[in-house]
Amino acid sequence: MGLRFLTAGESHGRGLTGILEGMPAGLRLDAAYLMKQAVRRKMGYGRGNRQKIETDQIEITGGVRHGLTLGSPIALWIENRDFKNWQDVMQAEDCPGSVKRRVDVPRPGHADLVGGLKYRHKDLRNVLERASARETAIRVALGSVARRFLEELGIVIGSRVVALGDVSDDTPAGDPATLNDRADRSPVRALGREKELVAFIERAKAAGDTVGGVIEVVAGGLPSGLGSHVQWDRRLEAPIAEAFMSLNAIKGVEIGGGFKTAATPGSRAHDEFEPGPGGRVRYRTNRSGGIDGGITTGQALVVRAAMKPLATLMRPLGSVDLRTGKAAAAHIERSDVCAVPSAAVIGESLLALVLAGAVLEKFGGDSMEEIAPRVKRWRKSGTSI
Ligand SMILES: Cc1cc2nc3c(=O)[nH]c(=O)nc-3n(C[C@H](O)[C@H](O)[C@H](O)COP(=O)(O)O)c2cc1C
Repeated sequence: MGLRFLTAGESHGRGLTGILEGMPAGLRLDAAYLMKQAVRRKMGYGRGNRQKIETDQIEITGGVRHGLTLGSPIALWIENRDFKNWQDVMQAEDCPGSVKRRVDVPRPGHADLVGGLKYRHKDLRNVLERASARETAIRVALGSVARRFLEELGIVIGSRVVALGDVSDDTPAGDPATLNDRADRSPVRALGREKELVAFIERAKAAGDTVGGVIEVVAGGLPSGLGSHVQWDRRLEAPIAEAFMSLNAIKGVEIGGGFKTAATPGSRAHDEFEPGPGGRVRYRTNRSGGIDGGITTGQALVVRAAMKPLATLMRPLGSVDLRTGKAAAAHIERSDVCAVPSAAVIGESLLALVLAGAVLEKFGGDSMEEIAPRVKRWRKSGTSI
């Protein structure tokens, strides 16, 4: 059994719970490290007021003792500070007459209608509370544990925004190890065209509209040989695509050249080899995005994902009031205009969880003491470029 995790908790409920199983023992970990990533998730131009209310204080409630993982499941908890304003609405106890802020008009593009029909909920709040991306706060916390593990093995992950709406930035990503230092300086987490990107959000906001975009997540320092060509579900693109598609509002994923490769002639779509130092084989380019045949090449792993514009519009879309059956404007819940910069940070955690699982599958072991030398030996063995 590899790495697995679950999350629980509603957007305005008491808090969020996460459990990560399969992390080896002996990994140095503390809440302050996890908090660094939690803070990065909340950044970005276009986020709503909720981000100011929540501090996303992460508590480690299991699996770590005196700053080291035990090999047992790691349990994390984040309190929703907003719960105190929602206690009557969201408390677990049955208190007659306390149901407030009922939602009857589903938002097109959100989970409200289908979730309500599926679970037979008349109050659509029962759906939107869990469909909300508030859940990603705990997913990022779990992913940060995976990031810590990878870091110990010399693997780094960074991200940036490459497009908002039809404004795209084609600045090269550069070194993955310094990508976050550069992207975090920008309010939209982009490396170029910052003014145009901010202006795009401002225009949408003024029009009561919302913004989507494209994120890029890059992993560097990867050993070659993660994933496998031998079985469909072991091709590393498969769990990566699954992880990104599991993120709220993500509608497309590509690795390396992705969709553009389809229109590129074969002579310019692949990475030619050349003799490298010490009898090794070197790649001339990295058009594949770091994976060939479902296996990491040892080059930077480059994943891009398309995020749709958020479904809650301040100028609401047309909908139907499920109580009356009459046409109505969609429900308005406090909402972001643009969450693409946050999605990029979340993407780092999603990739970290997949890569940590792939490292554990290849190198095995129950403790860092076992795993770290195995990775080192593999890197030295000459299979890495
Ligand atoms: C970081 C982040 C923040 C989000 N914030 C909002 C928001 O404020 N308002 C909204 O309507 N949707 C928001 N979403 C998107 C919804 O969660 C998502 O559209 C919804 O769960 C329906 O799922 P689907 O879009 O994957 O079909 C956000 C998504 C992410 C990743």
